[in-house]
Amino acid sequence: MTSTDSGKHSLPPSVVDALRCSVCSNPVDLVDRTVRCENGHSFDLARHGYVNLLHAKTPAGTADTPDMVAARVEFLDGGLYTPLATEIARSVMPFAGDGLVVDAGAGTGYYLARALDAAPEATGLALDVSAVALRRAARAHPRLGAAVWNLWEPWPVKSVSASVVLNVFAPRNGAEFRRVLRDDGALVVATPNPAHLSELAALVDMVKVDDRKEERLDATLSAFFELEGRQDVTREVSMTPEQVRQVVRMGPSAHHLHREDRQGLLARIVEPVAVTTSFTVSVYRPAPR
Ligand SMILES: C[S@@+](CC[C@H](N)C(=O)[O-])C[C@H]1O[C@@H](n2cnc3c(N)ncnc32)[C@H](O)[C@@H]1O
Ligand SMILES: [Zn+2]
Repeated sequence: MTSTDSGKHSLPPSVVDALRCSVCSNPVDLVDRTVRCENGHSFDLARHGYVNLLHAKTPAGTADTPDMVAARVEFLDGGLYTPLATEIARSVMPFAGDGLVVDAGAGTGYYLARALDAAPEATGLALDVSAVALRRAARAHPRLGAAVWNLWEPWPVKSVSASVVLNVFAPRNGAEFRRVLRDDGALVVATPNPAHLSELAALVDMVKVDDRKEERLDATLSAFFELEGRQDVTREVSMTPEQVRQVVRMGPSAHHLHREDRQGLLARIVEPVAVTTSFTVSVYRPAPR
């Protein structure tokens, strides 16, 4: 897609219906590419089609950087995480209907777009604090709208407006997940397993996945949700040296590794590497309010 046609990207009407003003919580309308509430708080759509609803600064280092986003786009295009996208879409589909799927920490919208493919009447809202990532998300699917927001703040999303909340390797705000979710909806969470990329952790000193993450995941969400089912998605894949570089650049280790150290270690990889990719997709149902 060229930059000249990016102006047509906007927010689907059902996404606008689900949004609320991030300042005063009143309903909003979209008029002439401006999201506005009756109290006159207004937020312009970016040329790329997402809306930035933030009005306070977010802590530095929270959002993915442009380099992390570019690496994720290149890596995901390579298709190695397609089995995960397929499992996420399979989990979202039974609950989506003609409702709203809110992807909390959607990044470039890759998984949300695949879920919308599987749910032909649903609409998607991508929330993320990274405007750079949402430029991509806003054009990842025709039924997807994107809004810049910090997930740790009360969301600019109406209560009981979502059929599904999706969360893929991103911050989990259980109270807000529950507030926006319908009682008959579902929360779908994807997390990496300890074996995920373990061969690379050894090779390039990446941040390792905490073994007790799953227990902590349940503890974070247990006040609001009950686990309904869990699916393991594990594949042995062969990554090209370029894909190894992409996966390191896009991941959490990109925040921690010094550029020179990282490049030195990565430069030594010249052959394809056998790597384990391993995720858990968990489906939770809301607990009674
Ligand atoms: C590891 S990425 C995953 C992105 C996407 N779900 C994917 O798998 O392709 C984590 C995402 O969470 C976003 N993020 C981190 N902290 C956030 C916050 N406080 N509020 C909103 N988004 C946040 C980052 O900008 C990034 O896009
Ligand atoms: Zn307002």
